[in-house]
Amino acid sequence: MAKETGAAQSGTFKIGGDIEINRLGFGAMRVTGAGVWGEPEDRAEALRTLKRLPELGVNFIDTSDAYGPETSENLLAEALHPFKDMLIATKGGLVRGGPGVWTPLGRPEYLRQAVLMSLRRLKIGQIGLWQLHRIDPKTPRDEQFAVIRDMQKEGLIRHVGLSEVGIEEIRAAQKFFPVATVQNQYNLVHRVHEDVLDYCGKNNIGFMPWFPLAAGNLAKPGTVLDSVAKKLGATPSQVALAWVLKRSPVMLPIPGTGKVKHLEENTAAAAIVLSDADFNALGAAGLKESRAA
Ligand SMILES: NC(=O)c1ccc[n+]([C@@H]2O[C@H](COP(=O)([O-])OP(=O)(O)OC[C@H]3O[C@@H](n4cnc5c(N)ncnc54)[C@H](OP(=O)(O)O)[C@@H]3O)[C@@H](O)[C@H]2O)c1
Repeated sequence: MAKETGAAQSGTFKIGGDIEINRLGFGAMRVTGAGVWGEPEDRAEALRTLKRLPELGVNFIDTSDAYGPETSENLLAEALHPFKDMLIATKGGLVRGGPGVWTPLGRPEYLRQAVLMSLRRLKIGQIGLWQLHRIDPKTPRDEQFAVIRDMQKEGLIRHVGLSEVGIEEIRAAQKFFPVATVQNQYNLVHRVHEDVLDYCGKNNIGFMPWFPLAAGNLAKPGTVLDSVAKKLGATPSQVALAWVLKRSPVMLPIPGTGKVKHLEENTAAAAIVLSDADFNALGAAGLKESRAA
């Protein structure tokens, strides 16, 4: 096990060119109940986990109005308001119909309400990074982008991000506002968005990989991940996270947990230094696994 260290060891990135954060962030989706619905089973532990974040140097937190819904934003405000030196990146554009149910809704009046309600729950005057959780296929995307542009002009949101998008969609959005971040599923063994990651790298757009701890079959004994982890005295998930961090300077992983012990373990991954040889071997094995899935 790597020893506990701060998120600062992951290096920094400037969101939208002006808000500097440590690259290893935190995803606040897991401080909710089963199916990302309602209160977490152990609320006290979830609050302790959130309060531990600044102590560990984590100053970039991803959440959404849809986590709970509302629960995650409310707990963040309870634990960390006024968010000194922290960037809370939230999202809107998904309606919750029950545990595990997520429905895109991008009508402009709904997106505006989502932003206003997030501001109210977080008790802040401006959202530093607001992300469109999904582009709603039933609403013309230009209408969604236009209201986001307007809200940015009004100062309700400072920077804008997108989630689960391809390059064509990013380019379409860039006609309305600068795209500061993209949040897509990406990890050592899920590599379908390599092209989007490269686009983000070339355009200095932060890339927030969700589900960054996943290692799939590579977590099993006898794999290259298993042997690198044993050599470094780390867990396979820590090495998977270290690999993601080394993959690109615009990479901003947001591992999530509701447990202090897991948070400390994940943050310690920022201190892991992978050799180029190990990085390449892991990358090749992960790509093979991704293509086989
Ligand atoms: N944009 C999107 O559509 C989208 C979709 C999904 C997620 N996200 C964002 O991405 C963040 C991360 O995604 P994710 O939660 O799916 O994936 P993740 O952070 O890679 O994995 C979280 C899971 O791993 C467990 N875990 C965390 N640390 C652990 C450790 N050290 N040891 C053992 N288990 C551990 C957590 O449970 P415990 O609570 O028990 O630790 C949880 O079940 C979310 O919090 C959310 O902010 C975005």
